[in-house]
Amino acid sequence: MGRIGKTTPGAATPTAAQARRLVDLGACIDFLDKTGNLLRVKTEVDPRFELAAVAKRLEGGKCVLFERVKGSAWPVLAGLLWNRGIVGELFGMPREQVPFAIAAAVAAWQKDPAALPGRLLQRGPCNEVIEDKCDLSRLPIPLHALKDGGAFLDSSLVVARNPLTGAPNISIHRMMVTRKDRLSFLIDPGRHLGEYVDIMERRGEALPVTINNGVGLAPWIVSSLPRLGDNKNAVAHHLVGRGIDFVRGQTVDVPAYAAAQFVIEAEILPGVREAEGPFAEVTGYYAGREKRWVMKVKAITRRAEPVFHTVLSGMEVWNAVGFTAEAAISHAVKRAIPELVAVYLPHGGCGFYEAVVQVRNTRRDIGKDVIRATLRAFPPLQRVIVVDTDVDLRDAVDVDWAVTTRFDPDHDLVLLPGQSGHILNPMVKPDADGKGGTVTKMGMDALVPFGAPPQRFERVKFRAIDLANYEIVENRLKPAAARKPAATPNRKRRQQSKEET
Ligand SMILES: Cc1cc2nc3c(=O)[nH]c(=O)nc-3n(C[C@H](O)[C@H](O)[C@H](O)COP(=O)(O)O)c2cc1C
Repeated sequence: MGRIGKTTPGAATPTAAQARRLVDLGACIDFLDKTGNLLRVKTEVDPRFELAAVAKRLEGGKCVLFERVKGSAWPVLAGLLWNRGIVGELFGMPREQVPFAIAAAVAAWQKDPAALPGRLLQRGPCNEVIEDKCDLSRLPIPLHALKDGGAFLDSSLVVARNPLTGAPNISIHRMMVTRKDRLSFLIDPGRHLGEYVDIMERRGEALPVTINNGVGLAPWIVSSLPRLGDNKNAVAHHLVGRGIDFVRGQTVDVPAYAAAQFVIEAEILPGVREAEGPFAEVTGYYAGREKRWVMKVKAITRRAEPVFHTVLSGMEVWNAVGFTAEAAISHAVKRAIPELVAVYLPHGGCGFYEAVVQVRNTRRDIGKDVIRATLRAFPPLQRVIVVDTDVDLRDAVDVDWAVTTRFDPDHDLVLLPGQSGHILNPMVKPDADGKGGTVTKMGMDALVPFGAPPQRFERVKFRAIDLANYEIVENRLKPAAARKPAATPNRKRRQQSKEET
């Protein structure tokens, strides 16, 4: 393990310890524990609705380890990505740098895809135990929202080989447990996995896969990077600065992540479709129940003491998608428009549909150019807001302030009707074949109008001070229950006479 390769240009090479916690969920949990970023839920929770309900109440704070999950021997981790500050700590950099580190890894991979080869081992930690039965009900797979159609693996990487080239590719797919050894799952339009299944279905053959749960942040984030060819898993090697180890599948000729907590080996059955859904999606709405693709489980292997990884639809997926989208946008837009300073996909846009882009305002119409380039760089986007460098792009109030005081709908609005949209968003009108849909996209150029008198748009500033230099006293009120009831005239009189005696 730990072969050191070439470094990623534009980003510091992670230390061995940083790299380990980005690939190995166990090392990541140890780090979270040591840095005070982990809550441990000691009370037993039911994986049916209760685990997710507790996680929802803790959303956005520290990561949560559910130590006792009813009906299973193994704990569950939730919230790995719902706090960007913690993700930054895991990467060993400020949260704002994470998308740039991902973009730098993509650039390094594109320059030399084979620079950091991973090893393919016979065995690894992920197959310390080979389960004697293919029984998914032993795993602590949670049932999240009240109308979900079943328990979902929602955080596992599917590795499949391109049937034409043999190269492995990774992607995340939600997978609903329908029987002890059967899953039905979703393939969105345009996915590589869909292409592979089509090829195998034409041959009348099953497509073998490995389902990797608990893989660590680097491969996890890389798996959902948009618009890269297949075999993009090697981007993760650049992100951690060294080759990542894989193992051979026990029953399928597909690699699995050596450091995974659980590996489920399966095959996608040709021509078979069974009901999947509903599922609480990233949009905050339920995705509907329909007949979708089916996998049959062939083997389950695991660590001796594994931790199951789940994500809660909401902040963690908004961040996860946000990071990859920000990386893709910085990577693509900065090449054409070097004035780009930063990009943020706010939570209100579900990490998918809205981008706030900060640029240096150097020429007329730069805002409109940025809007078009950003929409091209990340196709699910529906709304782009461009702001100046004096606006905090992560603060919704500040962005709203820029729109209110710098945006003129007569000149600064870009409307692009009939654009291809992301089918999970309920405002996207589905095409007749149901494979895609269209929506009107919008850009708001909230930059100070180019050439406007500077004093008109000069932002109010106050002197910089350090509050630590001031003695500031707070009048601490007692909690209401401890306070004496307000004195009525009679009580006041009685009190007075007591005090007098
Ligand atoms: C938490 C999460 C869940 C996802 N679920 C699905 C899914 O159910 N179906 C799907 O097609 N894509 C899903 N995706 C998106 C794909 O994994 C992602 O777009 C990936 O990059 C596709 O790989 P490809 O471009 O090689 O086809 C999900 C992404 C995340 C982060």
